[in-house]
Amino acid sequence: MAATVFILNGPNLNLLGQREPEIYGRETLADIEAACAARAQALGLETDFRQSNGEGRMVDWIQEARGKAVGIVINAGAYTHTSVAIHDALKAVELPVIEVHLSNLFAREEFRHHSYVSLAATGMICGLGGAGYLLALEALHNLQRRRPGAPPRSAAKKELDGQWPN
Ligand code: DQA
Repeated sequence: MAATVFILNGPNLNLLGQREPEIYGRETLADIEAACAARAQALGLETDFRQSNGEGRMVDWIQEARGKAVGIVINAGAYTHTSVAIHDALKAVELPVIEVHLSNLFAREEFRHHSYVSLAATGMICGLGGAGYLLALEALHNLQRRRPGAPPRSAAKKELDGQWPN
């Protein structure tokens, strides 16, 4: 069975496509989910893609990732800037975490410049729209294969690797 990546989305991301399209674009969350599934498959990964408007629900999912997932991609929406609980859960779960935001947080209001998620994340991608999720999957894939004891790689996956400098 392929290794699973949890892709967790926070509040208001269910409204993508309709919500402030000048900031977040016209892509829906379903479009991003489908693109992630396709990219993951090419990388030999599986995705478990979820969205919730609830902070506690997100904490529960992060805890669930332990033992089920090889890494987490997270766009915590507005909880990014407020949630110590999500920060603590990400720390506790001991998995690689890639933080993603559709918009460039640093070109926006000052309250978006601070992220509790970044303090617990392996890396962060922002400002690239839905493509950021795909880059996050690539990053987790690359982290995975650097682990000692990682399985040998297929020719198809090696070809994908060639697109990225090491
Ligand atoms: C966001 C940025 C957050 O500041 C905002 O609250 C969101 C979306 C993004 O993807 O750009 O809900 O996480």
